[in-house]
Amino acid sequence: MPQKIAIVVWSKTGNTKLMANRIKKGVEDSGFEVDIFKAYNFNSEKVKNYDKIALGCPAMGSETLEDTEFLPMYENIKTYLKDKKVFFFGSYGWGDGKWMRDWEEDAIKNGVKLFRKSIIAKEKPSDEILNICYQAGKDLANA
Ligand SMILES: Cc1cc2nc3c(=O)[nH]c(=O)nc-3n(C[C@H](O)[C@H](O)[C@H](O)COP(=O)(O)O)c2cc1C
Repeated sequence: MPQKIAIVVWSKTGNTKLMANRIKKGVEDSGFEVDIFKAYNFNSEKVKNYDKIALGCPAMGSETLEDTEFLPMYENIKTYLKDKKVFFFGSYGWGDGKWMRDWEEDAIKNGVKLFRKSIIAKEKPSDEILNICYQAGKDLANA
């Protein structure tokens, strides 16, 4: 059975969504299928169906994950991520990436193994960042 891959994303103005789409392309060009979910449509039941998951959310609030859809979903699935291959991505604006450092720290504390470095983009992802996203999709496919 091929391992199942999901990308779960929340994006308000589309920047994190651009990253998600490029990750998806990297997975598909590696010959694997991937299911992409909006955060509100993913949960602790669905997470059980996947072996590899890329999670994307921009910096919101004050250096936090978006807290009405993404954070509640993430809190629900967090304990199920321990045995899976996971990485994070997202866009930010005026900060310095603190939301992502905090997210990673919390994940590691909860036993989530991040198999590759998170990808962050300042506002709209550059071509360079999108190439990294594409490569990350390939890494996810082959992890
Ligand atoms: C309500 C709100 C809160 C935000 N809070 C932060 C923040 O704490 N730190 C930061 O660097 N950017 C912050 N931003 C900027 C967004 O993270 C940035 O515009 C990002 O590109 C949005 O990603 P998206 O297009 O995927 O929605 C905030 C934006 C909004 C609308």
